[in-house]
Amino acid sequence: MTLSPLPHRPTIRPMKPIYVTEPTLPPLEEFIPYLQQIWDSKTLTNGGPFHQQLEAELCRHLGVRHVSLFTNATIALITALQALRITGEVITTPYSFVATAHSLLWTGVKPVFVDVDPVTLNLDPRNIEAAITPQTTAIMPVHCYGTPCDVDEIQRIADTYGLKVIYDAAHAFGVRNQSGSILNYGDLAVLSFHATKVFNTFEGGAIICPDAKTKQRIDHLKNFGFVDEVTVVAPGINGKMSEFNAALGLLQLKDLEQAIQKRQLIDARYRRELAGVAGIHCVPRGHEGVSNYAYFPIMVGPQYSRSRDDLYRRLKEHGIHARRYFYPLISDFPMYRGLPSAARSTLPLARQAADQVICLPIYPTLPEEALERIISLIRAG
Ligand SMILES: Cc1ncc(COP(=O)(O)O)c(C=O)c1O
Repeated sequence: MTLSPLPHRPTIRPMKPIYVTEPTLPPLEEFIPYLQQIWDSKTLTNGGPFHQQLEAELCRHLGVRHVSLFTNATIALITALQALRITGEVITTPYSFVATAHSLLWTGVKPVFVDVDPVTLNLDPRNIEAAITPQTTAIMPVHCYGTPCDVDEIQRIADTYGLKVIYDAAHAFGVRNQSGSILNYGDLAVLSFHATKVFNTFEGGAIICPDAKTKQRIDHLKNFGFVDEVTVVAPGINGKMSEFNAALGLLQLKDLEQAIQKRQLIDARYRRELAGVAGIHCVPRGHEGVSNYAYFPIMVGPQYSRSRDDLYRRLKEHGIHARRYFYPLISDFPMYRGLPSAARSTLPLARQAADQVICLPIYPTLPEEALERIISLIRAG
């Protein structure tokens, strides 16, 4: 049997899917010498030379006093709570990634959710005092999208009531206000170096702490509680960053400034081109200092021609995978929704944000063609 030739059809090149972010990676060949060094030394973890070097370089780069590297931010948050012996209740935001509240449950602490500020979407300090009880020991705010919290007001309340402050600063790498790094506020601040973050080590995280004694305690806790070969002072965890991740981090630091500049251009472009679209509100950066342009959240209000979810689906049909960060609210997940502070009638502003926000793709290698498509799809309504 002879087959007749197939009719000629023009080939349609499928567009590569566009995700909300794409990890930044150095050229592979630049990483090989670092790997060679690890292979030669056979030091793979437990505070090896790359680990020590990255801690020192991050102190310099970020403008902070002490950095303790971790395997990820979730373990770092849990360790931060353990280091400060936090118990009872902690006031936090429902508008975040679920790891914020999970770290409290992992340490046997009860989260108390309070509503957010309508502009910054960060925990609103005006709601803190009413939520304080005799069991309250700390506040855990989040610099959501890298927008600084009202750090002075939060500290004032913490000082008045004798509370600790632990910042979930997972989004706030490199963010500064007029006084310097935002990571210097609070008793401790926790960074994430997850693949989706502005600065990534594949997986990773860190605790920023103000003094050497606290860093030492944290260093013990992330190594099972070992102080020396025969002394264990607490039920610590294995939270150590490996030499592989630390070496990658050293290399990632080199091109970071350039990568953030590219993010800034995309941020400016979105703001300019979406400014006049009825019902679309670009969430403001919320401060005058240095931003990291980690996320680009917009709010899809009732004046827009589609609902937020409708826009989310339409973008997806066109290969644009924007994300509804943060929907659902943490307080709506089964392990939290029974808490009094999670009642549906409370937290109206966080709920509105969860219903209206969509984060648009932003990363240094976002193709121009994709950026144009996202903007024109949103403008077309
Ligand atoms: C606000 C916030 N906190 C904590 C985490 C947890 O970070 P990690 O994935 O490094 O454990 C994330 C992660 O993406 C986050 O966005």
